[in-house]
Amino acid sequence: MTIQGKKIVLGITGGIAAYKTPELVRQLTAAGAEVSVVMSRSAHRFVTATSLQAVSGRAVRDDLWDSSAEAAMGHIELARSADCILIAPATAHSCAKLAQGEADDLLSTLCLAAPCPIAIAPAMNQQMWQHPAVQRNIEQLRSDGVLIWGPDSGDLACGDVGPGRMAEPTELVAEIEALFGPQRLKGARVLITAGPTREPLDPVRFISNQSSGKQGFALAEAALGAGAEVTLVSGPVEIATPRGATRIDVTTAREMHDSVMATVGDHDIFIGVAAVADFRPDAVRAEKIKKASGHHAMSLELVENPDIIAAVAARPDRPLAIGFAAETEHILEHAREKLARKGLDLIVVNDVSDRRIGFDSDDNEVTLVTVDVEHTVPLASKRVVSRAIIERIADLYEQTTSPRSRQGRSARKL
Ligand code: CTP
Repeated sequence: MTIQGKKIVLGITGGIAAYKTPELVRQLTAAGAEVSVVMSRSAHRFVTATSLQAVSGRAVRDDLWDSSAEAAMGHIELARSADCILIAPATAHSCAKLAQGEADDLLSTLCLAAPCPIAIAPAMNQQMWQHPAVQRNIEQLRSDGVLIWGPDSGDLACGDVGPGRMAEPTELVAEIEALFGPQRLKGARVLITAGPTREPLDPVRFISNQSSGKQGFALAEAALGAGAEVTLVSGPVEIATPRGATRIDVTTAREMHDSVMATVGDHDIFIGVAAVADFRPDAVRAEKIKKASGHHAMSLELVENPDIIAAVAARPDRPLAIGFAAETEHILEHAREKLARKGLDLIVVNDVSDRRIGFDSDDNEVTLVTVDVEHTVPLASKRVVSRAIIERIADLYEQTTSPRSRQGRSARKL
């Protein structure tokens, strides 16, 4: 078990999802972890220290000024000895405090003093989660390197439906196990395209699509977690760069193409997640296009953009090439056709006619298709799905780097 003997500080803050934390502690200790619980003041309103002490087998701490607890193990010592701090549930208030670097109680102080990874499992009302101030704090935390696990979408304790549920204990345990799991892409250099492209018509208009970039950025995070060096070539998106990734911003498909071609030679794996516009206006007008009086229709002449991933896969020094496909019908048939036409090693396909998943959703369900195998990753958050995809890519990568596979690319199998 990968978390055997790992010292985990579980910070519990004051949200209703705190009632799930004794179960979380039970699962972590069953997996061999040593869990020290630290509660915020308001966490006591939702779960008792007695329960948490019973399941963790350790004294629960909640006060920076408790001299007997400090004498047993000072807070700096507790921070230094932790292998990971997980705050679950993380309320909007605790996220704000962490994003600001406040240290006004034991848990927030530990977070500043600990050199180990910090993860949060946010849980709150969906309106609160979507509030710009909360999202700003989450993006700040993400770029500070804090791991954001969840929230899930669904029925909330307040009666609302939407994003805000704390990730289930089983999922949080799986995240912690992955954190301490083998770094299967250590030493690999991964280039990822993400987000949409914008194809300008005139100085104020462009053609684009709904891609949010969430799936590409989640894959970058999962690849970093697996030990890879990651370069992200991103179209215009509103998400923070995962800490450790090198980001190159582009706007049009041709800029994305040029940027990829200039850097792909230094990479072992290419993952094309971007929703690249297949066509662009044949010419960008220098002046704003005006309505011609008496004309109730207009037509645009479009020309084809370069196919970036096909160009990558056609290179003599090609890296492992993984594509994405969004389909609405004959899903697997189209995926297999694209795999062959673009010369890819793997294609990740999703059914965008399914309203639970797709462009702006936090969830996804995908099928991984290679020449000889199809493997479905069931509906889960884009983060969990990304980890499963990276695992499969690591399988392929290990085959390409093994001495036998150097004999030929056909040796690659999922
Ligand atoms: N892709 C690319 N460059 C393009 C178009 C697509 O690199 N100009 C990549 C995407 O990043 C993705 C895959 O190709 O990995 C998806 O291709 P898609 O756009 O679905 O394929 P098309 O060939 O455009 O097929 P269709 O539009 O008919 O579905």
